Amino acid sequence: MSHDFDLTGKICIVTGGGRGIGRGMAEGLARNGATVVLSGRTKTTLDEAAAAIGGDTWSHPADVSKEDDVIALRDAVLARHGKIDVLVNNAGVDPIFKMIDRTSLEEWKHIVDINLTGLFLCCKYLGGAMKEGGSVINVSSVAGHVGLMRSVPYCASKGGAELMTKALAIDWASRGVRVNTLAPGWVDTDLTHELLTHDVHGQRMLAGTPLGRFATPKDMAGGVVFLASDASSFMTGQSLVIDGGWTAA
Ligand SMILES: NC(=O)c1ccc[n+]([C@@H]2O[C@H](COP(=O)([O-])OP(=O)(O)OC[C@H]3O[C@@H](n4cnc5c(N)ncnc54)[C@H](OP(=O)(O)O)[C@@H]3O)[C@@H](O)[C@H]2O)c1
Repeated sequence: MSHDFDLTGKICIVTGGGRGIGRGMAEGLARNGATVVLSGRTKTTLDEAAAAIGGDTWSHPADVSKEDDVIALRDAVLARHGKIDVLVNNAGVDPIFKMIDRTSLEEWKHIVDINLTGLFLCCKYLGGAMKEGGSVINVSSVAGHVGLMRSVPYCASKGGAELMTKALAIDWASRGVRVNTLAPGWVDTDLTHELLTHDVHGQRMLAGTPLGRFATPKDMAGGVVFLASDASSFMTGQSLVIDGGWTAA
């Protein structure tokens, strides 16, 4: 029997899907019936994740900051399935935690190239290939809603993701393609593990999280399934914040 969150028959691309939050989201989408295409730069990680998730899951490597890679990803998915229903733009790099005067132009460009230009390219080519009923989910961050200390490029990239989402949601409403963000709080992954286990900084982050723990990638799965499915059919241009209450405190 189908339910509101049923994704059977949906073709879902998850960028950065080989590990961390992207992998947790991919597992949730697959559990609810979707065919998942994992993307990222490291083929071995992607292949391992695809095999572990099983079912129809497969992978296609792509660097989201490279236009040719994103076009090739689109073409590979369309050649195999003839459509793209859901796009989870999750690939991203972390804050570098430096004051602006110690942040080089190269460091700024690296974060913006992946977190923001990569988002632009994936929306343009992968979201652009969607038909009516499609759903784009841009993974931003609580850092797209509030400022974090020593994180100017990261906050700029995630704040940009939030407003790119709203602008695109308006432009694509007439196509019947919805665009939302999912904004995680602190999730224990390769990107954050060192910070979250730090004696001082980790304890400070924990103290600021009312639910009293850091998230796991699995905690992000329910939100992405909701945004991908018909359960969120009247929601576009919005941000689903999943942060254990961090921004409420
Ligand atoms: N962890 C947190 O607390 C947290 C909080 C808020 C928001 N987020 C956001 O959530 C997303 C995932 O973070 P995470 O914690 O899961 O990080 P992670 O464990 O470091 O994983 C990052 C993923 O992105 C991929 N990636 C990086 N650069 C890429 C590129 N140029 N092209 C394609 N794929 C690329 C990586 O694969 P390859 O290296 O193989 O390419 C990897 O699969 C990011 O957008 C991050 O900003 C994380």
